[in-house]
Amino acid sequence: MHLPFRSSCVRVLRSSLQTSSKSFSTLKPTLSTANPNFVKIVEVGPRDGLQNEPRPIPPPIKAELINRLALAGVRNIEAGSFVSPKWVPQMAGTSEVLSLIDPFPNTGYSVLVPNQKGMDLLLDILSPSTSPDSAAKPPPPVTEVAIFTSATNAFSLANTNVSIAESLARLAPVARTALDAGLKVRGYVSVVVTCPFSGRVDPRRVRDVSRELVQMGCYEIGLGDTTGAGTPASVRAMLEEVAKDVDVGMLSGHFHDTNGTATANILTALDFGLRSFDASVGGLGGCPYSPGATGNVATEDVIYALTGDRLFGAIGEPYDGEPAKTVQSKWDVGPIDLAQLAEIGQWISGVLGRETTSRAGRALMAKRKREQEQKGKGGAKL
Ligand code: HMG
Ligand code: MG
Repeated sequence: MHLPFRSSCVRVLRSSLQTSSKSFSTLKPTLSTANPNFVKIVEVGPRDGLQNEPRPIPPPIKAELINRLALAGVRNIEAGSFVSPKWVPQMAGTSEVLSLIDPFPNTGYSVLVPNQKGMDLLLDILSPSTSPDSAAKPPPPVTEVAIFTSATNAFSLANTNVSIAESLARLAPVARTALDAGLKVRGYVSVVVTCPFSGRVDPRRVRDVSRELVQMGCYEIGLGDTTGAGTPASVRAMLEEVAKDVDVGMLSGHFHDTNGTATANILTALDFGLRSFDASVGGLGGCPYSPGATGNVATEDVIYALTGDRLFGAIGEPYDGEPAKTVQSKWDVGPIDLAQLAEIGQWISGVLGRETTSRAGRALMAKRKREQEQKGKGGAKL
């Protein structure tokens, strides 16, 4: 089946892959900017954030979350997954969610697919409507799929019912189908630091699996610290190993924040050369097959760590009579509006009946509340 659109970057990547089976280490990353300080943020809250929620969340709420994120300037959104509803019931309504999205210019929407069945279901809804009704809705704006496997057999079996080797064999034709349909393909490797079932993970296994995914045509490899056990030292050791085979510009960090180290791990990975990170608004989430792991790092916390100094103007007050240096971080996260993100994190957490776990989100909302209260009292200074 062929969809009408086909991205040129996919063609370039595929032709490079065909030229040489060893060419993965020399493939150029596909980040669409020449700015070395640009950091791509992939919002995974609507998928990774919500997939573990025990109570059903109506598709209109999920679509509203996605639409609000796009309005807040998020340009890459993982909108859901086409996995077995027997395994992850929360994602069962992904088709409906996609049909309710208001496509936002320059925003990429992706979904997870675990097998050919998921791919076929996606392609069905992406094919142009043959309905004689001329007012039929255009297909949803999905431009990318994410396939996923693992660095350990134990986790692969728990998450997808097959070993790593079997999952790679199953995913290769799925990736091929997606590329042929003009979709970009991203690959995830789970448990890159520790596995909830088999303990410490050998970084060489992460390297091997990442390399296989690149060979399948993935333009980016999401390195999943599923359990959130990673520390700057263990993350750096893992990256050093993976980078032996895969260009650093093709790697993306996906850090769960179970132990509060995710932001530190991102800063370590940035220092190592990565420029793409997943995050989840309000710190939502957890993997249903990683017992005890909490959500992804909160998007608000990542944006604050990278650009928060701008919120308070130049930090250049004279100190002890000496003019202080102006401090401003160099990172560019695109048009993402942190204040709007904080509101979204608070809103979706409220819908789920809890508080946002984002520290930056909570601080910003508290600051706003104080400011409003002061305004109400006649504008006295804080
Ligand atoms: P299985 O039971 O071995 O497969 O599951 P099966 O082929 O025997 O199918 C079982 C039933 O599911 C059948 O239905 C199929 O039709 C149906 P029945 O005939 O019994 O009525 N089915 C499907 N339905 C809809 N969409 C599909 C699909 N496939 C089969 N695509 C399977 C194998 C891979 C399907 C299953 O294990 C599965 O869906 N696993 C996904 C688990 C998951 O979504 N985990 C969370 C996402 S990964 C993650 O969170 C990690 C990440 O965030 C990175 C990180 O943090 O590390 C990405
Ligand atoms: Mg995850």
